[in-house]
Amino acid sequence: MSKFILTSTNRSIAAQIASLLNLGGQLLYGQTEWSILANPITYVLELYGEQVAGVIGLEVKTPQITEMKHLCVHPGYRNRGIGLKLLKKGIEYATTEFVYGAVRSDNAVNIRNNLRIGMKPVAKHRSRSREIIIFAGRRTSLSHGTNARDSKRDQVRSSHG
Ligand SMILES: CC(C)(COP(=O)(O)OP(=O)(O)OC[C@H]1O[C@@H](n2cnc3c(N)ncnc32)[C@H](O)[C@@H]1OP(=O)(O)O)[C@@H](O)C(=O)NCCC(=O)NCCS
Repeated sequence: MSKFILTSTNRSIAAQIASLLNLGGQLLYGQTEWSILANPITYVLELYGEQVAGVIGLEVKTPQITEMKHLCVHPGYRNRGIGLKLLKKGIEYATTEFVYGAVRSDNAVNIRNNLRIGMKPVAKHRSRSREIIIFAGRRTSLSHGTNARDSKRDQVRSSHG
């Protein structure tokens, strides 16, 4: 099977992810190139040339459960379906039976996208005086719209490479 190697460096990708997440303004702590490189999250990227246009992170929490987090699309690339595509790709690449993600109750776009792919609101809580909805689903019953052959075509690289 073919392998693909990107010309952009891992540091450049990590720095772009950090600035994108900081721009998104949804996280409690500011991110840096180094925090992104050191965390245990697998990132699925949408690239335009060498620019990271969007990202979603996958963090395995237990052998059965993955958290989908750090979803963010660059403001210049929004409303083109990238946020929905990344949610679907996150589900496709999760390796556990169940996935979940936290969405602020005022984030109408992401709530609609979660519902579109079959994620169900299963809990609500408050954090930093904001209401958070937890969406969850069983991977096999969610819509990710691509097959195993497509996912093998996407390239995978590690942050050590
Ligand atoms: C939430 C977020 C990820 C959504 O990303 P996005 O790429 O703009 O999302 P999408 O394009 O998939 O969906 C947005 C709208 O575009 C529409 N759309 C989908 N495909 C489209 C296409 N090909 N062309 C034009 N519009 C399209 C969708 O129907 C949707 O509209 P609607 O939900 O109002 O009906 C983005 O707004 C973001 O990064 N926000 C800041 C960070 C954030 O909130 N992250 C989530 C934390 S939980």
